[in-house]
Amino acid sequence: MIVTINKLDSKGRGIVKDKNPIFVDNALIDEVVDIEITKQVSKYALAKVVKYIKTSPKRIKPICPYFGKCGGCQLMHLSYQDQLSYKEDKVKEIVYRQIGNIKINNIVPSKEIYYRNKVTFHVQNNKIGFYKLQSKNIIEIKKCYLLKKEINDELENILNKKYQNNYSLVIRSGIDKLIINQPDLEETKDYVIDEINGFKFILSPTSFFQVNTKEASKLYNIVKKYLNLNSNDTVLDLYCGTGTIGLTLSKNCKYVYGVEINKQAINDANQNKKLNNISNISFTCLDAKDINSLNLKVNKVVVDPPRAGLDKKTIKYLNDNKFDTVVYVSCDMMTLVRDIKLLQDNYTICEITPVDMFPQTYHIECVCLLKKISV
Ligand SMILES: C[S@@+](CC[C@H](N)C(=O)[O-])C[C@H]1O[C@@H](n2cnc3c(N)ncnc32)[C@H](O)[C@@H]1O
Repeated sequence: MIVTINKLDSKGRGIVKDKNPIFVDNALIDEVVDIEITKQVSKYALAKVVKYIKTSPKRIKPICPYFGKCGGCQLMHLSYQDQLSYKEDKVKEIVYRQIGNIKINNIVPSKEIYYRNKVTFHVQNNKIGFYKLQSKNIIEIKKCYLLKKEINDELENILNKKYQNNYSLVIRSGIDKLIINQPDLEETKDYVIDEINGFKFILSPTSFFQVNTKEASKLYNIVKKYLNLNSNDTVLDLYCGTGTIGLTLSKNCKYVYGVEINKQAINDANQNKKLNNISNISFTCLDAKDINSLNLKVNKVVVDPPRAGLDKKTIKYLNDNKFDTVVYVSCDMMTLVRDIKLLQDNYTICEITPVDMFPQTYHIECVCLLKKISV
């Protein structure tokens, strides 16, 4: 079937507006392509291109030979500048449509193109690689163009060794070394050290840490600017992970409380407190939805939830307490928009800054500033 692509969706796929939409992998706006439907459900269809009849002037040759086969990257057929425009437009489109005319700043570009400090491979039938696009079958790889040079340089050696089938294989790189392990299989006490804005962080293999370290420094600086801290401020860093945001804020305020559900991350956070010689911060292992039970006296809050966003109890906590400032760091536009709409009765949504933490992929990180509505 020959079609013209009308738009790109939030996953970087071309959309054809038929009776129901057809989502086409590896197709750009205005391209004319011959497609084959790969999946048909009642409300939409998925398709792949069998032939390009007219290509877009924006199309570039992807640097990676696995692009289009492996599911990791979705935008490698666009120049980096066009990837940034796509992401900025997506943020505007979703926010303007669902909330209205909020100030959206230019997207902050990534300094590094080879940026990932951590990678998770799958091991199946003695093959090591990533999942193929839309499947759980493995595509074996020799190099991944998202990974930091330190990991790629060692990759062939690492992948030539034997690992246990049906478990993931995680490689994490810090400023000191690489660690390689199968976290669901083996207990490991080993860790790496990484550095953001002059602070050092101990990271266990499974603790959350931003995968693009250089960009994380810019992200945290925006959080700091939005919080506009002074020495009387007491801050809650909710979903604090290994304490990265809270520790970087601690020198500019009176006290920080970090709260996080993952025990290993809280252990790391406490070690990070010691490692950086910080005394005005404490960490609690708790589900965010139970935050009310801590009865904290804070006036500013940072939330950095996983993609699922905030649960209803956390939204209620923010609405009931009417904090001076709430900064929402989000890796999922849809849940960000859903949540900030629920805070609008008590907070003004002042502005949003998108930050490109994940070049070559459709993922977008955003920082949103909310300020208490004074009565
Ligand atoms: C996007 S990460 C942010 C971590 C940290 N702010 C950073 O920048 O490194 C989200 C964190 O939320 C934690 N988390 C997930 N669900 C949670 C919950 N229900 N309550 C508290 N923390 C949770 C995860 O373990 C993870 O560390």
